[in-house]
Amino acid sequence: MSKYVNEIEKRRTFAIISHPDAGKTTLTEKFLLYGGAIAMAGAVKGKKAARHAVSDWMEIEKQRGISVTSSVMQFHYEGYCINILDTPGHQDFSEDTYRTLMAADSAVMVIDAAKGVEPQTRKLFKVCLLRDIPIFTFINKMDREARNPYDLLDEIEYELGIKTYPMNWPIGCGKEFKGVYDRNKKEIIAFRANDEMANGQRQVAAIEADLSDPNLAELIGEDHRQTLVDDVELLDGAGYEFDLEAVRHGRLSPVFFGSALTNFGVEPFLEDFLHMTTPPLPRKSDAGEIDPFDDDFSAFVFKIQANMNKAHRDRVAFMRICSGKFEKGMEVLHVQGDKRMKLSQPQQLMAQEREIVDEAYAGDIIGVFDPGIFSIGDTISVPGKKFRFEGIPTFAPEHFALVRQVDTMKRKQFIKGTSQIAQEGAIQIFQELGGGMEEVIVGVVGVLQFEVLEYRLKNEYNVDIHMERLPYEHIRWIENEDLDPKTLNLTSDTKRIQDLKGNRLLIFANSWSINWALEHNEGLKLAEFGR
Ligand code: G4P
Repeated sequence: MSKYVNEIEKRRTFAIISHPDAGKTTLTEKFLLYGGAIAMAGAVKGKKAARHAVSDWMEIEKQRGISVTSSVMQFHYEGYCINILDTPGHQDFSEDTYRTLMAADSAVMVIDAAKGVEPQTRKLFKVCLLRDIPIFTFINKMDREARNPYDLLDEIEYELGIKTYPMNWPIGCGKEFKGVYDRNKKEIIAFRANDEMANGQRQVAAIEADLSDPNLAELIGEDHRQTLVDDVELLDGAGYEFDLEAVRHGRLSPVFFGSALTNFGVEPFLEDFLHMTTPPLPRKSDAGEIDPFDDDFSAFVFKIQANMNKAHRDRVAFMRICSGKFEKGMEVLHVQGDKRMKLSQPQQLMAQEREIVDEAYAGDIIGVFDPGIFSIGDTISVPGKKFRFEGIPTFAPEHFALVRQVDTMKRKQFIKGTSQIAQEGAIQIFQELGGGMEEVIVGVVGVLQFEVLEYRLKNEYNVDIHMERLPYEHIRWIENEDLDPKTLNLTSDTKRIQDLKGNRLLIFANSWSINWALEHNEGLKLAEFGR
């Protein structure tokens, strides 16, 4: 048994996902309040400029008022050590978000009760499904007009393909929101609007009332009482059985109704969630599964972020610890670089502060100073243990632009800048087949990355660029090794390109052109992009 079993077992590392505006930030903030990590609501983020978010590292985030990068927060609650991986809600940053999900052991999905499943939730959810991680649903904003709860559950099941189990059931909504019925405890938690507890650390006191309680009608009104009795009967009779195994394998999502803003239903959610979700899970590698309770330290890099601190022009590699214990100053092996090294300036984000960490355990996320040696997906282990964690998938870019420097004297900086930003995984770069680096074709998953690229090249590398958007949307590898792409018979809206390793690819304006290429070039083999 591991020496660190006690530390590792209390770790819970989860990502919080939602469509923008569903209430992810508000819910995160309430979690931090319960953990005592922040003292005041509103400390995490205010979209209206005056307040600054924990995650607002880049100027561009402040200017646009959106969360560009994913941040990590750690806090303690009831004996658990909790790591929240915040994901950028904006659809344009989906690739970064996907990678963040790779570092989590479970996901909390926040859904706006008036809107239901939105496109962004759908996209993120797909990645969770790929990994079979547990998914917990918080249906938020019940203090506002909401859709019928049965419809919301049906939509989650139909749109996302996961079964649901309502842990509690709402009694009314909006002005008529009376509270929730906790199905496990069989009691009602009454909602009081404008409760003075909303900004505090405590949950409103539960009013224990079972369904046959004669005072129930007085508490929630006769109509609501009758509806609730019928609903509970229906749920108990016709709903899915609760099955913890199914929850832990991402096949059944426990659903909670609440209101993050008024702090209603947040603490019961947090408690149930922490009980049901898992401690750090094993990770696959080329040497088999790596057990988190293995004493030897191992980690993988899931994100690289440049210039988090403008004053220091630094680059930070975020790694998820997969096994054992990390100690400051310890010697590690960077497997891909085949180099022994010490990780410098290891830091952790504790709510609002970045702190230097002396030790961290499997499940934790640390950021280390990166002199430009790490790439996304790299494995860090102890010297003598050379294995590689399974790679992080690369997602196919869906938007392309032709980019070149305005001042040709800046060629060196331009190449360095675009290559480094590509190495971080923020963009992918290609060249015209047979072309040079004077012009690069940049592919991104979300269009806002173009803006980030332009901003960063100017601010960090002092290079102005000219950018021309290209009409392509699809990318495929050419699998035939001996084929000369020039001989291919293609539509005019198809382009032949290569990546920096010389692999040949085609980009297409539409899926019709892909079919055309396949039909008019016998033997042509195209592969979906991505590892
Ligand atoms: P996000 O991170 O998912 O994008 O959402 P965020 O928490 O920023 O919430 C989006 C808006 O919804 C915020 O209002 C927030 O106050 C509100 N909100 C969150 N949870 C609830 C809830 O349970 N009930 C109600 N009624 N509103 C909720 P905003 O005015 O857009 O922003 P702000 O100025 O308050 O930051």
